Amino acid sequence: MYIILLGAPGSGKGTQSKFITKKYKIPQISTGDILRENIKKNNNIGKKIFNILNNGDLVSDDIVCRLVYKRIKQDDCSKGFLLDGFPRTIQQAKYISYLGIKINFVLEFIVPDELILKRISGRRIHIKSGRTYHVYFNPPKKQGVDDITQEKLTIREDDKLESVKKRLKNYKKEINQLNQYYLKEQKNQNLKFFKIDGTTTPKNIQNKIKIILKNNKN
Ligand code: AP5
Ligand code: MG
Repeated sequence: MYIILLGAPGSGKGTQSKFITKKYKIPQISTGDILRENIKKNNNIGKKIFNILNNGDLVSDDIVCRLVYKRIKQDDCSKGFLLDGFPRTIQQAKYISYLGIKINFVLEFIVPDELILKRISGRRIHIKSGRTYHVYFNPPKKQGVDDITQEKLTIREDDKLESVKKRLKNYKKEINQLNQYYLKEQKNQNLKFFKIDGTTTPKNIQNKIKIILKNNKN
């Protein structure tokens, strides 16, 4: 199974990825997580992109595509994967087609800006695993610590208001073109494209996704 999750910052891509990847036994490829890992390692790419992420700008297609290529060549991706936060530009979408990857589902979460701001302001993350919580909407079992490792949760560097506004602006700039691209691909290929109301509870959205994936298998 090859799945793409589209959606604005804070729309729930990371949250829903965890359940999909577990249920379908495919790895989650979050370009945001991969980029943050490079920053943490402070390697050449990390140094180049540090300010870009903090400001809420997009990293160049060239860097992101190379990182995705490297990841999908790993053994665990041979039977499918879930792309979280990639593609984000039309060039990235075309790169997936260029690699000959046949995407089965594109799911886009629709959430209004006001709710996105509320969600992001209460987000807490476990950096190593990418697990995401929310202080009110999706709290960890014990305040401030990850459910599984018991390690401390942190706030993402790019979750400050100015960066979030920039991320939202960038998303809106690219999403129409991506929508059109996948509507066209839907006609030419076996790909199925669904827009999902992302404003209800995580469990409710999870159930909707389950139904979509179950009822639309090729
Ligand atoms: P990335 O890490 O992908 O960030 P993003 O797209 O801005 O999305 P988020 O991770 O902020 O939100 P999400 O949709 O995963 O929501 P979540 O589930 O956490 O990218 C970061 C940066 O990296 C980019 O700005 C860019 O610089 C760079 N980058 C990444 N990919 C790139 C690419 N392809 N090209 C170029 N640059 C790239 O949920 C948010 C909060 O809400 C959480 O607290 C969660 O608990 C809560 N929540 C989730 N669902 C619900 C719900 N249904 N009800 C209530 N609360 C909920
Ligand atoms: Mg995310």
